[in-house]
Amino acid sequence: MSSVDMETIVSLCKRRGFIFQSSEIYGGAGGCWDYGPLGVELKRNVKDAWWKAMVHDRDDVVGIDASILMNPQVWVASGHVAQFSDPMVDCKSCKGRFRADQLQENKCPDCGGQLTEPRMFNLMFKTFMGPVENDAAVVYLRPETAQGIFVNFQNVMSTSRRKLPLGIAQTGKSFRNEITTGNFIFRSREFEQMEMEYFVKPGTDDQWFQHWLEQRFSWYVKLGIKKENLRLRPHAKEELAHYAKGCYDVEYLFPMGWSELEGIANRADYDLTQHAKSSGKDLSVFEEETKERFVPYVIEPSAGVDRSVLAFLLDSYHEEVVEKEKRVVLRLHPDLAPIKVAVLPLSRNEKLLPLSTGVHASLRGCFTTQYDDSQSIGRRYRRQDEVGTPYCVTIDFQSLEDQRVTIRDRDSLHQVRVPIDTLRATLLAKLAGEDFDVLPPGGSMVSGAKG
Ligand code: GAP
Repeated sequence: MSSVDMETIVSLCKRRGFIFQSSEIYGGAGGCWDYGPLGVELKRNVKDAWWKAMVHDRDDVVGIDASILMNPQVWVASGHVAQFSDPMVDCKSCKGRFRADQLQENKCPDCGGQLTEPRMFNLMFKTFMGPVENDAAVVYLRPETAQGIFVNFQNVMSTSRRKLPLGIAQTGKSFRNEITTGNFIFRSREFEQMEMEYFVKPGTDDQWFQHWLEQRFSWYVKLGIKKENLRLRPHAKEELAHYAKGCYDVEYLFPMGWSELEGIANRADYDLTQHAKSSGKDLSVFEEETKERFVPYVIEPSAGVDRSVLAFLLDSYHEEVVEKEKRVVLRLHPDLAPIKVAVLPLSRNEKLLPLSTGVHASLRGCFTTQYDDSQSIGRRYRRQDEVGTPYCVTIDFQSLEDQRVTIRDRDSLHQVRVPIDTLRATLLAKLAGEDFDVLPPGGSMVSGAKG
């Protein structure tokens, strides 16, 4: 299990500006969260890493960005209007509201009171399009990004002149009126998804399903999640969603136990068939080589951005004792770290200012940096460790003489001294995975550094 409890991460996130309660000054908004200056960088990095792996690094996947509000018929055809519901019970004593399928016993978990019979509660948020609030104007906030992909399948196929297999990827907000939210950003009412629908010829779906299970599991491992904290769990038949032929969850060992990070489903031809029937449009494809016409099957890896952010935070959190003091460090993968390099002049002495600001200016624009000259150097190192900054660059009085600066490695605490004119290239190489102890020309190790 991740070595840290949820309260510690919630408190770090608030204290350091990763994540705040939504509308906090008004007492909050249930199940909604705001990302602060560091959180927004981390979240963006998670989405960028996903987009790179799913779209840019492949030649069989393209992206789209569909609207959140869609024709309401989409949700009738997809099955969401009829079936996207959870069983809800109310406590007759304290009026608490719970999901019946998550209760261990048939009594209120808060006060022990008697519960009502379960009623099905549709999770889609409803609103009205246009000025008239009547049934004909009802629209839904999308509960998944997937349907925006299915309804654009023909548009993308014909305009991108692609053949199968073809994936269409999208990231974006989804909304679910969850009966109970909780575990910080794990289950909220407004969240972001990273979804990809991979359209294949029927009969090749099992092989592609296997491919995506492997790809998606290894994505988390490559970005630093420990293998022992991840597992692939097949869904039992009775657990399968109404559209799925088969499904696995990528689960992470969160502090509350194994829980879903991502679902990978074989949706067969359910969605395209439903939309073809409902819209009257032909959504089949013609395969030139075999002269066959068929409705593609779909493999769908569907991940939660917020749940991934939470797993990366939990898994990277470490506490250790260095020089008799507690050190908290987020060992985030460099691709995910909100700040890549901190520039720290040894002191605020004005003699150091021109060189320090010059060094900062030479790095800014190349990667995210932070300039910090307040308090002792030790405290500044700790502040950067706590938010996962991989490298700190220190400018001292010797730098004025020899035009060299110190780079400190977050994880090993090793320090090297490098010429300023090699600094940017050295940092780029380290961020791309070069061993920290590999030195550029004119570089040297600083012996005994333990800061
Ligand atoms: N298109 C398929 C689909 O939406 P899902 O299992 O309902 O499948 C996919 O959702 C992912 O979206 C989940 O694995 C989870 O990471 C994320 N997710 C779903 N509901 C969420 C919620 N209420 N809060 C945060 N993330 C959620």
